[in-house]
Amino acid sequence: IVQGPPGLQGTPGPAGARGLPGVEGPMGPKGLKGDKGDLGRTGDPGLNGQKGDQGEQGVCECTDGADGNDGRPGENGAKGDKGDTGPMGIQGPMGLKGNMGNMGLTGQPGPCTSAIQSAFSACINQSFPMENLPVPFQHIFTNKQGHFNPSSGIYTAPVNGTYVFSFHLAVADKTLKVGLFHNFYPVVKSTETTDHSTTSQTVVLHLKMGDRVWLQVKDGTTNGMYTDRESSTHDFHMSPP
Ligand SMILES: *[C@@H]1O[C@H](CO)[C@@H](O)[C@H](O)[C@H]1NC(C)=O
Ligand SMILES: *[C@@H]1O[C@H](CO)[C@@H](O)[C@H](O)[C@H]1NC(C)=O
Repeated sequence: IVQGPPGLQGTPGPAGARGLPGVEGPMGPKGLKGDKGDLGRTGDPGLNGQKGDQGEQGVCECTDGADGNDGRPGENGAKGDKGDTGPMGIQGPMGLKGNMGNMGLTGQPGPCTSAIQSAFSACINQSFPMENLPVPFQHIFTNKQGHFNPSSGIYTAPVNGTYVFSFHLAVADKTLKVGLFHNFYPVVKSTETTDHSTTSQTVVLHLKMGDRVWLQVKDGTTNGMYTDRESSTHDFHMSPP
């Protein structure tokens, strides 16, 4: 088979569909500078900036100034309210003794007074009293004025005066050496060596007010002062009116 000659040119075909947009052309040259625009409106105020760092300490070549004069005293304030009553203070020390008062008028003569009386009678309730101590006479027959102290055995004179003392002492088992003391001085002494006997004395003494009188044995081997159901030992005193 052999290929024939080309045919005749046909009639132009109908217009084709619009093609795709072509690629963007290259950028044109820079235009001329335009005229200056109008002034824009004022912008809003900006926010506060952050606190800056502390600056370096400045150099100071200053000196302290001289003190100023004292100011004038202020005016007196208004009078305050009256304060509350304070607590009571502690009692002060006792004052000095005052001067002696004037002598009073002489009083009416008083009624006749009976003389001061003082009497007692007592006996021991325990044999063999202790040495170096007044002998107590615990059993009292009478001691109206109380000038005799039964537990100490001491009689104390109430007034200056003349007094009679007597004692009657039962002696048993031991020798008895006893003294009647006037203010620590033995004015009368008795010694009795016979068993189951008695010794007695009577003495008249002038005493000053406050003088003391008592009985006292010599020591622990001569304290045979005795009492039992059948014998008693008396110390007795009275002052005459
Ligand atoms: C002596 O009498 C006193 C006083 O009444 C009493 O306290 C004491 O016990 C009596 N002593 C004796 C041994 O009875
Ligand atoms: C008692 O006697 C003393 C000494 O003799 C004397 O100083 C005193 O004034 C007398 N007291 C009275 C109250 O008489």
